[in-house]
Amino acid sequence: MKRNDLLAMFAAAFFLLSASAWADGDPAHGRARAQMCAGCHGIADYRTAYPEVYPVPKIGGQQASYIVKTLQDYRSGARKHPTMRGIAATLSDQDMADLAAYYAGETRK
Ligand code: HEC
Repeated sequence: MKRNDLLAMFAAAFFLLSASAWADGDPAHGRARAQMCAGCHGIADYRTAYPEVYPVPKIGGQQASYIVKTLQDYRSGARKHPTMRGIAATLSDQDMADLAAYYAGETRK
């Protein structure tokens, strides 16, 4: 077997594994990841002070698919808030699924 064939097999196996892992977010991973969100989301009536004074929406209890979609939109630039764009840029698809699974299972806050 040629070296490239082997590489392709590894790539395919990796893709299959990661694709199946994306199907469902893992709330436990999401919870660990959510530490970097908790500084803004989940504080009653919290407002950011940068880049302007801005109310922070409640994300706990929202639909997982909605949370994933908004995070992808921040990453792609379809949604423009600068802080969330910066944060979403650091998240993988798996992170987004995990975070969505965690927040969707939370009560609204
Ligand atoms: C520095 C403060 C800050 C941090 C940290 C932060 N966010 Fe946000 N987030 C905001 C603000 C402000 C908005 C509203 C932006 C807008 O109007 O588009 C927002 C919007 C959102 C939305 C869209 C909510 C809706 O109802 O449309 C989601 C989902 C979200 N954030 C998830 C996260 C996740 C997940 C993390 C952690 C990985 C995170 N945020 C970290 C400030 C923050």
